[in-house]
Amino acid sequence: MTVIAKAKRFTIRTYRKSDAPSLAKNINNKTINAALGNEVPYPYSLNDARSFIEKTMKEARRKKPDNLSFVIDIDGEVAGAVGFGSIAGHKAELGYWLAEKHWGRGITPEAVKLITRFGFNELGFHRVYARVFPFNKSSMLVLEKAGYSKEGYLRKEYMKNGKLMDSYIYAKVR
Ligand SMILES: CC(C)(COP(=O)(O)OP(=O)(O)OC[C@H]1O[C@@H](n2cnc3c(N)ncnc32)[C@H](O)[C@@H]1OP(=O)(O)O)[C@@H](O)C(=O)NCCC(=O)NCCS
Repeated sequence: MTVIAKAKRFTIRTYRKSDAPSLAKNINNKTINAALGNEVPYPYSLNDARSFIEKTMKEARRKKPDNLSFVIDIDGEVAGAVGFGSIAGHKAELGYWLAEKHWGRGITPEAVKLITRFGFNELGFHRVYARVFPFNKSSMLVLEKAGYSKEGYLRKEYMKNGKLMDSYIYAKVR
C-alpha cells in the first residue's frame, strides 16, 4: 500500500485486498451508480469488490498502466475513490465518487485537486479531463472548485444501460 497524498480529513492511497468490504458497502448506491460513466454493477457485491481490487492492483503493477485507481481513505475505510482512466502518454481521464454519508463537505474537490497535482507532477500528464452527465450538477461544481474548465458538450457520448447519454467535458492542463 502506497500513500499518494495526505489531507486533514482523508488520505489518498492505493488499494489493498482488505478494502473489499468497505468498497462494496459504500459504492453500492443508486445515485453513485447512475453518475458513473463506466458500467459498474448494481447491486454491488463483495465479490465485485474483490475482483475490482484484484484487477486494479494487477493493473498498477504494469509498466504502462491504462488506468490507476486510488482510495479516498477516511478512518481506514474506502470512503470513495479517485483515479485516472484511458491513460495515453500526456493525458488521462479523471473519475471519482464519494460515499453519500460524506457528501457536501468539500472532500471530493480537495481530493480532485490533490490527485490532479499528482497526475501532473508524478505521472507527467499535461491534460486531465473529465466527462460528466448533464444532470450531475454536484460533479460539475466539484470540477469547477478544483480548477477545471468546461470545454464542451458531447452529444450521445455514452451508451449506458442501453441508453445514449450526452455529457459535458471539463479539463485542466499544465
Ligand atoms: C459528485 C460528488 C463526488 C460530490 O462530492 P462532495 O465531496 O460531496 O462535493 P462537495 O462537498 O463539493 O459538494 C458538491 C455539491 O454537491 C451538492 N451536495 C452537497 N451535499 C449534498 C447532499 N447531501 N446530497 C446531494 N447533493 C449534495 C451541492 O450542490 C454541492 O455544491 P455546494 O457545496 O457548492 O453547494 C458526490 O456527490 C458523488 O460521489 N456523486 C456520485 C458519483 C459521481 O457523480 N461521480 C462523478 C462522475 S463525473
